[in-house]
Amino acid sequence: MVLFPAFQAIDVFGRLVVLNILALQRPLHTSLLSSTLEPVSTKPTVMNVSGSNFCEPIVPTHTFDAPLEDLVVLFVPGGIETRGEALVAPAVEFVGKMYPRLGYLVSVCTGATIVAKTGLLFLTVASWVQLHSKFDHLHYSALAYQPLIGNSPGPNANWIPQARWVADGNIWSSPGVSTGIDVAYAFIAALYWDDVAGGIANSSDCVRWLDPNYDPFAAVWNVMK
Ligand SMILES: *[C@@H]1O[C@H](CO)[C@@H](O)[C@H](O)[C@H]1NC(C)=O
Ligand SMILES: *[C@@H]1O[C@H](CO)[C@@H](O)[C@H](O)[C@H]1NC(C)=O
Repeated sequence: MVLFPAFQAIDVFGRLVVLNILALQRPLHTSLLSSTLEPVSTKPTVMNVSGSNFCEPIVPTHTFDAPLEDLVVLFVPGGIETRGEALVAPAVEFVGKMYPRLGYLVSVCTGATIVAKTGLLFLTVASWVQLHSKFDHLHYSALAYQPLIGNSPGPNANWIPQARWVADGNIWSSPGVSTGIDVAYAFIAALYWDDVAGGIANSSDCVRWLDPNYDPFAAVWNVMK
C-alpha cells in the first residue's frame, strides 16, 4: 500500500479491512510504503480550507527504496491533494519503478492520477473529473486550487466517465472513496473465487457491488457530458 501526505483514509483502510479478513484464511503479507518511516497523515496541507485539525497519521513499515522482492500487488490510494506535484512525486516515481515487477496494480480515486503520471497506458474511470466537479459543488475557490486541479492527469491514460471499477490488463482502478471496497471484493473474486469475496462480505455485513458498469454517481457529479 502506497502512502503519501493527505491520503484518503478509506482508500487505504477500506481495502485493508477486506484483505485483513482474507489474511485470516490465507497467508498474506502487507507493507505500508512511503518516502520515509515517519508517520504519514490524512491531514490536508495545501487545502486547509476550514482550519480543522482533524486527521489520522499512520506509520509506514517500509520506505520506497526498500528491496520489496516479494511485492505482487501494489495498491495506490487517492487523496485530496494528489494534484500537488511535489507531494506525490516520490509515489509517482515509485509506482513507475515497481510496475514492471508487479502482478497487479490497483488504484482508487485520484490514485489513478499517480498511475497516469508514470506514463503507463491504461483505461481508467474519471475520478479526476469527478473530483473537479466536487470542488465546484462545494464552492471551493477555483482560483485558489487552480494549480492543483489544472495539472494533466497523465499522457497515456484513457479516462471513461462512468464505471464503479475498471480492470484493464493488470491495472485495476475505481473512481472514489467507497468504491475502493467494491474493487477489493471484485479483485479477490477474480484472483480466488467468488465465494471467497462473498464470504468476506457476509462476515462484514457488507452488500457487494457486483456490476462494474453500474455507477449512479457519474450522474450525481454530472460527468456524463
Ligand atoms: C490548518 O489550519 C488550522 C487553523 O489555522 C491549523 O491549526 C492547522 O495546523 C492547519 N493544518 C495544516 C496542515 O496546516
Ligand atoms: C452470503 O449471504 C448470502 C445471503 O444469505 C448467501 O446467498 C450467500 O451464499 C452467502 N455467501 C457465502 C459465500 O457464504
